[in-house]
Amino acid sequence: MAIISSNPQPLKPGDSSQPGLFSDGMLKEPSAKRTSNDKSPHSSAAKEPLLEPEAKPEERSQQEERLRPRRLSEYIGQKDLKEVLDIAIQAAKVRQETLDHLLLYGPPGLGKTTLSLILAEEMGVGCKMTTAPALERPRDIAGLLMGLQPGDVLFIDEIHRLPKVTEEILYAAMEDFRLDVTLGKGTSARTRSLSLKRFTLVGATTRVGALTSPLRDRFGLIQRLRFYEIDELLQIVLRTAGILKMPVTDEGATEIARRSRGTPRIANRLLKRVRDYVQVKELGNLTEAIAAEALERYNIDPLGLDWTDRRLLTVMIENFNGGPVGLETIAAATGEDAQTIEEVYEPYLLQIGYLNRTSRGRIATAAAWKHLGYTPPDAQLSIL
Ligand SMILES: Nc1ncnc2c1ncn2[C@@H]1O[C@H](COP(=O)(O)OP(=O)(O)O)[C@@H](O)[C@H]1O
Ligand SMILES: [Mg+2]
Repeated sequence: MAIISSNPQPLKPGDSSQPGLFSDGMLKEPSAKRTSNDKSPHSSAAKEPLLEPEAKPEERSQQEERLRPRRLSEYIGQKDLKEVLDIAIQAAKVRQETLDHLLLYGPPGLGKTTLSLILAEEMGVGCKMTTAPALERPRDIAGLLMGLQPGDVLFIDEIHRLPKVTEEILYAAMEDFRLDVTLGKGTSARTRSLSLKRFTLVGATTRVGALTSPLRDRFGLIQRLRFYEIDELLQIVLRTAGILKMPVTDEGATEIARRSRGTPRIANRLLKRVRDYVQVKELGNLTEAIAAEALERYNIDPLGLDWTDRRLLTVMIENFNGGPVGLETIAAATGEDAQTIEEVYEPYLLQIGYLNRTSRGRIATAAAWKHLGYTPPDAQLSIL
């Protein structure tokens, strides 16, 4: 089961493949070179994995751990959220209480797991980490809850995927720090209540709307993570470059920041790729030109759009004259899953102003038409 304690070692590698930093297929020829008005066929081989916000198996282990900020003061960006948490932490410390249960939501790679580890660190408590699909049987969650020390953080990733039985056990645990267990079966079944140590549940989800309201209502704090601005990503890239002992210029780091889809995990991944490139080519300091050259080689679009983003927009433009077009229709036309489109792709396209959501459906904006090399129709321009 994927239960991992943050103390003293934050994460155990979940899989055995541990490629070295430079061994993971670096400098492979990029798959088919794509132009700005790409109309390439629907083939997953053309997808650009570097821009996927989810952690790859090798990143889930030590590589990503090394780069995680440990304290709130090192955590870059998310200013409002940090303020809320800082106050909550200080208040809890003064009152010598545990933190309120906290629900963090937002797209992958923005720092939810990192924040939960930071919270535990700041509170001086342990952090047990698990993911909702691993809590299939009542005894999975019961074992975890029983093992918590006073004040500990219990982090449940993908909390919208909790099995119903587990969720019901959590209600009493979150509210009254009580564990109701049923002993025996059928008519002889009895329920016993065990008291638990006070703890803080930190739930993370990309789909806050998929949580049931009884579960959502039991969180004292519900906070959203936002995409990062370029200047924040710049700081993240510079910080990571420092940890990796890699000389970079601000302009070189900005070039990486710009292509990172507002997502720290992607920024760090691109930086590592650029580092491979610089090292193999013996280029020395990372300048803007070198960063751009390297990222172009890996087929990273100047705005961080990936193959699927481009395909979604292209289909909207070519087949539906830019919309409005319904989500399900886009999904059917592109062969992508509607939920993935909504949760993974749309947030970034909305953020950079390439997509609008209206009551009649999605619209590709004039900026998107232009970026993909199309001339927007007059009607499109007038909407904007
Ligand atoms: N605010 C931040 N400042 C610096 N690095 C960050 C920040 N947020 C995330 N990261 C980096 O991005 C990576 C992914 O963050 P993570 O917390 O695993 O994202 P999530 O759980 O939301 O998918 C981490 O390894 C961390 O190094
Ligand atoms: Mg995570």
